[in-house]
Amino acid sequence: MIDSFNRAIDYLRVSVTDRCNFRCTYCMPDEGVSPLPHAEILSYEEILRMIRIVGHLGVRKVRLTGGEPLVRKGITGFISRLTALNIITDLSMTTNGSLLSGMAQELKKAGLQRVNISLDTANPEKFALITRRGRLEETLSGIKNALAAGLTPVKLNVVLSEHFTDDDLIYFVDLIYRLPVAVRFIEYMPIGADKAGRGYSVAAVKERIHKLGKGLLQPIALDTGNGPARYYRLPGALGSFGFITPISEHFCGQCNRLRLTADGKFKPCLLSNTEIDVKTALRSGATDEEIKQLFLQAVRAKPSGHNLCPTDKHSEVDRRMSQIGG
Ligand code: 5AD
Ligand code: SF4
Repeated sequence: MIDSFNRAIDYLRVSVTDRCNFRCTYCMPDEGVSPLPHAEILSYEEILRMIRIVGHLGVRKVRLTGGEPLVRKGITGFISRLTALNIITDLSMTTNGSLLSGMAQELKKAGLQRVNISLDTANPEKFALITRRGRLEETLSGIKNALAAGLTPVKLNVVLSEHFTDDDLIYFVDLIYRLPVAVRFIEYMPIGADKAGRGYSVAAVKERIHKLGKGLLQPIALDTGNGPARYYRLPGALGSFGFITPISEHFCGQCNRLRLTADGKFKPCLLSNTEIDVKTALRSGATDEEIKQLFLQAVRAKPSGHNLCPTDKHSEVDRRMSQIGG
């Protein structure tokens, strides 16, 4: 399926809940975001139907997101059913890792292939400060068990917010010599958060990595994903680094994805307010063909690019990150 700007769309990010047990400063205000009533959230049956329909249009990759996807009841059973559809060849999840250690094995067994885990720091106090609710050791043991269960490649998401410091960078450089993880530095996006500011630029991180004296970063191609990250390795390291630069270097030209929000809207672009309601159709007896047309409408509505730039104070995006799913 090709969009108006010649991009092949084969990837759907599915937010299964807007709820989260964390309140990361760059994602949500302290008091949280008022949760959607349960009736507004797509049922697992509805999501499975959607995926079956878009599968006929060529979608082969699905990432489950939230909020925090592991707080939704029955997620493992849902993943088994999704796997049984035999449509999706790359099934992944983005999680904060807090509930992962006890679930990693069953998720793998259900057919989840890999996970991306948010980890901004290995300093327990700072972790608590950024996530407002989280405990570092839980996420660290989530990472360990994800590796043990084979939910690989495990990727870590590090947001370069104002909290990110040199100590964190030193930790992550050391980490990729100890664990086979892809550590991805993500430029802070000024959407939906009250209390965060920008931290290091990606260019500054790269420069520091060079100065930390472990050799030169060498570009590599990772075998999964083909998402927006550019990957590099350091000589002798087990893991790798990735850099995601939504602001300083747009990657809109290669964007292969669409989003389905927990309340049943297609979002053609993370950084735009355009949404196409599919829940109303699902709940008023629409045929598969009608649902398919809504998806195609969302594909056609994908903009060529966004206009967030380094000097923007705040974007005009109304939803918080937890309500979109990252
Ligand atoms: N800027 C950049 N990344 C963000 N994430 C959440 N909010 C922001 C933001 N404002 C990332 C988190 C998580 C993923 C879902 O999105 O690190 O891993
Ligand atoms: Fe929750 Fe992820 Fe948002 Fe943090 S970034 S509050 S873990 S949804």
